[in-house]
Amino acid sequence: MRFRLVHLTDTHIMVGGKWRPRSADFEFDTEASLRRVVATVRMLDPPPAFAVLGGDLASPDLLPRDRPPTAEEWEPSYRRLAEILGELPCPIHFLVGNHDHRVAFNRVLRRDAPAADAPHYYAFDHEGYRFVALDSQETGQAGGFVDPAQLAWLERDLARHRERPTILFVHHHPWPLGLRWIDTMRIRNGDALMTMLQGHAQVRWVVCGHVHLDQVIEGGRLTMLTTPSTCLQMSKVSQAGKALPGPPAFRVIDVAGDALSTRVLHLRDDGSGEL
Ligand SMILES: [Fe+2]
Ligand SMILES: [Fe+2]
Repeated sequence: MRFRLVHLTDTHIMVGGKWRPRSADFEFDTEASLRRVVATVRMLDPPPAFAVLGGDLASPDLLPRDRPPTAEEWEPSYRRLAEILGELPCPIHFLVGNHDHRVAFNRVLRRDAPAADAPHYYAFDHEGYRFVALDSQETGQAGGFVDPAQLAWLERDLARHRERPTILFVHHHPWPLGLRWIDTMRIRNGDALMTMLQGHAQVRWVVCGHVHLDQVIEGGRLTMLTTPSTCLQMSKVSQAGKALPGPPAFRVIDVAGDALSTRVLHLRDDGSGEL
């Protein structure tokens, strides 16, 4: 078995304006940067078998307004996201983040939702590997939570697939990064989640978004990876949180038998480096 996948996260599409982060003196066109990322994914050789979209998909809530957007006001951003991602050369698996609206997401991107505001967690197989997507949104909160029903589902699924090497995707980071501002917004029961995962030897990687920077943390036999955003990034050193105007980035994961390899590609404006 040999295949590639890509992790694109924190696309933050917001129809009707650009992202002007608090305490930053720039605005960022999240749509243009995602189009650049998609064009880069199309150049990959070999192409990815599938893409995982890691949450914070569409975020009109980040535009200045006097009240949170309704589901109807959120939908055009999901439709724009779908239009841009339509250029990807592969199927897409979506995760939900804190800057998502479950009802609007379910209406536009997920036609099989059992209820209007149903959470979106699931698993699928590809060439002998198992992939798990969790839903860590705790509605109305910036931080994450994996509720007991989902944890129980996860444990049952892992118990049933002990022979399958598994990669788990979740929007929020379960383990702290060592950066105070973002560690207040990790999965608040992240330690319990990771302890449970440590009991399932087939789980190889936990891949997260949310933090807008790339980091690797190993603990026990688990590795947690975070992937930078397809739009603006956050400082890797500021304890208070500092937004940076890019560069857009995404993660490539290559699977060859039981060997996993990964790299992050940053799309620098001056064309230097990695492509
Ligand atoms: Fe984000
Ligand atoms: Fe997030």
